Amino acid sequence: DTMKILVATEKPFAKKAVDGIRGIVENAGYELALLEKYTDKSQLLEAVADVDALIIRSDKVTAEVIAAAKNLKIVVRAGAGYDNVDLEAASARGIVVMNTPGQNSNAVAELALAMMIYMSRNRFTPGTGTEIQGKTLGIHAYGNVGKLVGRKGKALGMNVVAYDPFITDEAVFAADGVKKVASVEELYKVSDFLSLHIPATEQTKGSIGYDLLMSMPKGATLVNTARKEVIDEAGVVRALTEREDLKYITDIAAGNQAELDEKFCKRVFATAKKMGAETAEANINAGLAAASQIVDFLKNGNTRFQVNK
Ligand code: 3PG
Repeated sequence: DTMKILVATEKPFAKKAVDGIRGIVENAGYELALLEKYTDKSQLLEAVADVDALIIRSDKVTAEVIAAAKNLKIVVRAGAGYDNVDLEAASARGIVVMNTPGQNSNAVAELALAMMIYMSRNRFTPGTGTEIQGKTLGIHAYGNVGKLVGRKGKALGMNVVAYDPFITDEAVFAADGVKKVASVEELYKVSDFLSLHIPATEQTKGSIGYDLLMSMPKGATLVNTARKEVIDEAGVVRALTEREDLKYITDIAAGNQAELDEKFCKRVFATAKKMGAETAEANINAGLAAASQIVDFLKNGNTRFQVNK
């Protein structure tokens, strides 16, 4: 019986990435199945029924999906954030869950900087804007994406500060010429641009809101290329209402985006569909890494990058 690997992507990879994944899978003697642009979870439930391995993006792998996948041994989220996978349900069945850290980070970092310039230049509409050079860029969480945003920000002449409760080694920041601040409060207080790179966890959900925004300098912009769940949406509305100088740009439309757009017009912007990792390069890097990790797990039992150990 040949192992079957399913790529299930509501938002598909670039063709080159799919071709590369197919090459890796078939070269290993396995079979590739594709479910792209599906519109209903019933299609996913049907497609996973006989697969041994699953490659996904932001696709929701719920307990129901896991229950429907009787032969499933491994799920690889081609990307960084795995908040879309029910880890408990997977672990209960002994299913290995992995991500592909760093593989799509550059695409997200480039988008974060682009968003800062876009807001600084009146969303590319007529009028006098401002420059990002010389401004203070605060980075909330200095992981794979945060680091790249920091380095690029430095190259663009920004003064870069960062906060990450999980990095105790000061040298990590110093190596990039980035100043580490001691608290999340201090970070927001000094940041003309605040770029969010925290994952959505029980601790972070709804943690960015009114108080932090209100503490930011005059004319500050909050940039969200992380997850919408980390935002306290009502708090953002309140802060933008009280402070007409604040701006908010997000790669993931807020639950209340229509309200934001109507109330704050040019001070807010959301992409139509999450596009941080939407580059050919990121698709290829993350997609091929996912396929290789699956082959290495099925053939050699390699569990590096497992997130539910
Ligand atoms: C990630 O966590 O890697 C990004 O959010 C990318 O998500 P996507 O693959 O759905 O574009």
